[in-house]
Amino acid sequence: MEAEKILAEITDIETRARREIAAASPAELEAWRVAYLGRKGKVLALTSFLPSLAPADKPEIGRRVNQLKQTLTALYEEKTRHTEQSRRKENLSFPGKRPTPGYLHPLTRVTRELVEIFSALGFGVHTGPDVETDYYNFEALNMPEDHPAKDMWDTFYLDYGQKVLLRTHTSPVQIRFMKKNQPPFRIVAVGRCFRRDALDARHSPVFHQMEGLMVGQDIQFAHLKGVLVHCMHRLFGKDVKVKFNPAYFPFTEPSAEVSISCIICGGKGCATCGQAGWLEILGAGMVHPQVFRNVGYDADGITGFAFGMGIERIAMLKYGIHDIRYFLQNDIRFIEQLGNG
Ligand code: FA5
Repeated sequence: MEAEKILAEITDIETRARREIAAASPAELEAWRVAYLGRKGKVLALTSFLPSLAPADKPEIGRRVNQLKQTLTALYEEKTRHTEQSRRKENLSFPGKRPTPGYLHPLTRVTRELVEIFSALGFGVHTGPDVETDYYNFEALNMPEDHPAKDMWDTFYLDYGQKVLLRTHTSPVQIRFMKKNQPPFRIVAVGRCFRRDALDARHSPVFHQMEGLMVGQDIQFAHLKGVLVHCMHRLFGKDVKVKFNPAYFPFTEPSAEVSISCIICGGKGCATCGQAGWLEILGAGMVHPQVFRNVGYDADGITGFAFGMGIERIAMLKYGIHDIRYFLQNDIRFIEQLGNG
């Protein structure tokens, strides 16, 4: 082919290529690239004419073919970039995927509510370890070695000498706090407790308590009663009935077990309250002077009250949960149905 014809062909190819790529849809772009820039494409086909050209024409034609190749490559890259950008823009305009919100476990919610109620009354919030020694869980709480009251708590021991155990209540936090601090003070402590209790609708081998402790001059049982009744009214409303029954704890004297009227059956009796119409939710009392002596306080000058509240029992009443086992089953539907309100 003569040089002039090849030059006309080059111009023609460029014109067509420009027109076609301008009209090409993203799906047609690859076909365009193959047709013009592919191994069997139009640009490479032009080079097959080079050997038959007059030697004087070869450099110029070679240069023009190269130029065409560069021009078309640039067109292709520009169009690809443009297509990619508009695809991204399209995606941005898609309706977003709504993320599923997480929900707080009912025990977390009740704990937060309790902490809020007691913080408002000036109680500080503290914690203690799940793994305790016999000293903190029993001995310092006025239950020396072989004291029969230890049987009140079916204990998981972690060693054969029965010195290390999973705490059976949050009361050891009282001892840990008092050993480091002087009265007056008021604190609460929330945490897990463990007991070899058989699992039923109201008992679980692992559950949570909130401990309360207020110590100072002239703290009386009336203060304990006032604080607990206030707390129950805040949690359940003013209509809830709060009942104090005499009880025994080695670390308080006098002691009480506190129940509230069952919110689920309105006091008539149901499976949750064991047909009693009342649900026992906490133990409480005035701190025993021996406990003060055990932590090095002058037992004559001060008094205090303490209580230990079952968080699961409160959550059951608050949310109408009939069985304590739901808390442990990790069924996401159980948590979701309470929402976050
Ligand atoms: C105690 O544990 C005492 N430490 C409470 C206390 C503290 C008394 C300070 C005086 C002064 P009790 O064993 O009764 O007491 O348990 C307190 C509450 O924990 C119970 O009322 C109940 O609500 C809850 N509870 C006890 N055992 C279980 C269990 N197995 N499952 C769920 N909740 C439980």
